[in-house]
Amino acid sequence: MDPATSSTHSPITLNINGEKHALSVDHRTTLLDALRERLDLTGTKKGCDQGQCGACTVLLDGRRAVSCLQLAVAAEGREITTIEGVAEGDRLHPVQQSFLDLDGFQCGYCTPGQICSAVAVIEEHAAGWPSAVTDDVRPEAGPPPLTADEIRERMSGNLCRCGAYASIVQAVERAAATVRSGGASAVESAPSEQSAPSKEAVA
Ligand code: FES
Ligand code: FES
Repeated sequence: MDPATSSTHSPITLNINGEKHALSVDHRTTLLDALRERLDLTGTKKGCDQGQCGACTVLLDGRRAVSCLQLAVAAEGREITTIEGVAEGDRLHPVQQSFLDLDGFQCGYCTPGQICSAVAVIEEHAAGWPSAVTDDVRPEAGPPPLTADEIRERMSGNLCRCGAYASIVQAVERAAATVRSGGASAVESAPSEQSAPSKEAVA
């Protein structure tokens, strides 16, 4: 039997940051471990490994997902964006630039997940998705003002042990303004449904 295919292993192709990666994985391998241990994409961090901290956040088809709760085999056929793919060449995404300019980090361990989340938050907000603190959730009300409370709620799945939250909120606020004013968003993520902006834990 082909060692790549067995009752426990399958060959898969993952589309990550626009590049295809073929590998054979144990069916129990998480996307996080495939990224870090098999593909050397170590920008995505492992914190709790149980869906609690957000350090492992990536984008799947433009939506946030905690990669520690996503099986690699279930990610086949999806557009996966990791922190390594957020910038466009040498041009940082506005979220990355804002985190740098406003010191949105201390040790930096949570930062890749924070940035991936923030990229999606800005898209979700622009698409009119309400959050748990949105007052008027009627579709015709349009996007609510992206207040600090809105940002805190929408980013609440990303924990920061250094407590850099005040700067993170400011960085997301500024990045959203940059994107709104025409600053390019390098990641194609355009949610179109009026649905809750919750993190996707498993497929
Ligand atoms: S490592 Fe903490 S949510 Fe995935
Ligand atoms: S910057 Fe250290 S955990 Fe967030």
